[in-house]
Amino acid sequence: MSAPLQSMLDVARQVLANAHAPYSRFRVGACLRAASGRLYGGCNVENSAYPVGQCAEATAIGAMVAAGDREIVEVVVATEGREVCAPCGRCRQQLAEFAGPGVPVHLAGPEGVRVTATLGELLPLAFGRDTLGPTRPGGGAAGT
Ligand code: THU
Repeated sequence: MSAPLQSMLDVARQVLANAHAPYSRFRVGACLRAASGRLYGGCNVENSAYPVGQCAEATAIGAMVAAGDREIVEVVVATEGREVCAPCGRCRQQLAEFAGPGVPVHLAGPEGVRVTATLGELLPLAFGRDTLGPTRPGGGAAGT
């Protein structure tokens, strides 16, 4: 396993331990590696108003954007159960905002990586900024 991947697993497990998941009891930790090399962790944050809860990937994306990074080059999603936990559909779309179709998404359990798929495999025919064409508000300048 590459050193960055081991570090990503470590971060994902650390933040998983802080997940706020009193309703589902399903803790998730995500780690994003940005093009800068920095790692960003995020856990799921549930809410008593169930639909308001936030997935681990979204928490990590928020941390990354707030820190000034905009390009994801690798993703780890860690869970504790026996089943492989792939990102939900909403998270796939959120990842695609900052990650290309070739970006590897590693799905891990306590024992390590179980499955690796590219974001393009998880989200084929993705809707993206190119779909909007040149008429979108703001003209699509980078970073907006
Ligand atoms: N969850 C994530 O954090 N990421 C996913 O991609 C799938 C689901 C969380 C949301 C909720 O807190 C719990 O897992 C059960 O659905």
